[in-house]
Amino acid sequence: MISFSTCYLALLLSGAAFAAPVTDPAASGALISSAAHSSSVASSAGHSTSSVSASFLTAPSSSATTGNAVASSTDSAPSSTATVPYISLTPNYPLWNSNDPSTPQAERSSLGASVLGPTNADIVKQNPDLLAPPTTDGGSVPNAKWPYSLSSNRLQTGGWARQQNVNVMPFAENLAGVNMRLEAGAIRELHWHKTAEWAYVLKGTTQVTSVNADGQNYVADVNAGDLWYFPPGVPHSLQGTNDDPDGTEFLLVFPTGDFNEDDTFLLTDWMAHVPAEVLAKNFQTDISTFSQVPAKELYIFPGANPAPPSAAPVSPNGVVPQPFTFNFSSVAPIQVPGGSYKIVDSTTFNVSTQVAAAQISLEPGAMRELHWHPTQDEWGFFLEGQGRMTIFASSGNARTFDYQAGDISYIPATYGHYVENTGSSTLTFLEIFNTDKFEDISLSNWLALIPPALVQAHLGFDNETIASLPKTQRVITAPLNATSSS
Ligand SMILES: *[C@@H]1O[C@H](CO)[C@@H](O)[C@H](O)[C@H]1NC(C)=O
Ligand SMILES: *[C@@H]1O[C@H](CO)[C@@H](O)[C@H](O)[C@H]1NC(C)=O
Ligand SMILES: *[C@@H]1O[C@H](CO)[C@@H](O)[C@H](O)[C@H]1NC(C)=O
Ligand SMILES: *[C@@H]1O[C@H](CO)[C@@H](O)[C@H](O)[C@H]1NC(C)=O
Repeated sequence: MISFSTCYLALLLSGAAFAAPVTDPAASGALISSAAHSSSVASSAGHSTSSVSASFLTAPSSSATTGNAVASSTDSAPSSTATVPYISLTPNYPLWNSNDPSTPQAERSSLGASVLGPTNADIVKQNPDLLAPPTTDGGSVPNAKWPYSLSSNRLQTGGWARQQNVNVMPFAENLAGVNMRLEAGAIRELHWHKTAEWAYVLKGTTQVTSVNADGQNYVADVNAGDLWYFPPGVPHSLQGTNDDPDGTEFLLVFPTGDFNEDDTFLLTDWMAHVPAEVLAKNFQTDISTFSQVPAKELYIFPGANPAPPSAAPVSPNGVVPQPFTFNFSSVAPIQVPGGSYKIVDSTTFNVSTQVAAAQISLEPGAMRELHWHPTQDEWGFFLEGQGRMTIFASSGNARTFDYQAGDISYIPATYGHYVENTGSSTLTFLEIFNTDKFEDISLSNWLALIPPALVQAHLGFDNETIASLPKTQRVITAPLNATSSS
């Protein structure tokens, strides 16, 4: 059995003690440090990030674009507008992309210097915001990116499986994922586990089978873009059909961070660990019946194309009352300027009480708007395109990551974030939560629904800007210069 082990890259990528440059060249001129507040990153989800020292600079500012600061003895000043410097309006674009023919350097504006030693050019090109972070990054935020390409794969006759869990991505405390491939006819053997299982089919058709504790059964074919969900402990199997000559590939998500695909309960593993005479008594048959029971687990193995679901045995107890599969691909996305989105949770996929999800598509330049999820961590998966995300962890802590198709992202509950399409093709990704109902809070919608004077006092917006804030959530924002009429 091949184990999924932590590799060196995992350790490198998950290094929590990341120090991003916090000095903004535009604001550094007269920077005088003042009362330093030592605080820990607030975290309702129990994530610990290191303590940081946030310098609160107080100053009357002469201009909105520079942040000249002088020291002050207090950070609770009478007027909210002139007590701290204003933010810099200097853009912080990613400085290169993965197709860039140039040699990226650890330089942004006047900060940093070229790289003299050896470097992994491909990784650097895919992660511009690690080598040359935006000046808005600061403090310490653990690694929130895991490419499945860095997971050890378990190769079997008929398919493979690779996983991500807290062993490779310690930040992802509350969800874990497995990427699995089955050739046509190949079977992920009959098994069960304590954690619920939610799945999204990436390609082909997967036949799933199951029986619940009431003796009700369920057999269905699940197509690309569609879902299945098995409640905790409910036994199931997965099998590639020949609808696609290549079989199938899918994404499994588990609502716990320490799920281990190698630790599930397998039919053959159990049978091989029960005395043969007990098997005979259990099945009320002769002991010779068991002459072809495998002596070790099969896990993934080749098989013939399955019969259609309609050929399944009829249970005297009927079929499960809430289907274990959901035709998510036939849910029409909500079209908005800049892209589209659709949500699935237990309000429509009734049985899925521990996993909710959204599928978001962004046109080049469009953005999943600034928001957070009030109570649940987000496990993200990038299906196509490339994007950039900054997660804000409170107390001056923020870190920016870049993602490509096949990457996993992770955002703890309450951490503010956005996802921007930084590529030249559509960016599509899944947001997945270990909860029954999808929930998010939009920054612009929040500000639209409170007294305008309060927004003006904090941010100095003019009346016209405040009036233009969206009274219903946008979810997606279009590129600023899009020709869209809305
Ligand atoms: C999904 O759609 C297929 C036909 O495309 C249908 O046979 C099946 O019953 C649907 N499944 C659910 C759970 O609605
Ligand atoms: C799911 O639950 C909703 C609300 O309770 C109900 O209207 C709907 O019929 C249920 N769907 C299925 C497939 O059972
Ligand atoms: C902005 O709105 C406030 C409150 O309605 C009003 O008192 C103020 O005069 C407005 N300012 C401008 C410049 O119109
Ligand atoms: C939109 O703005 C970007 C950046 O300012 C610019 O490069 C691009 O050409 C603009 N696109 C259009 C269609 O105006």
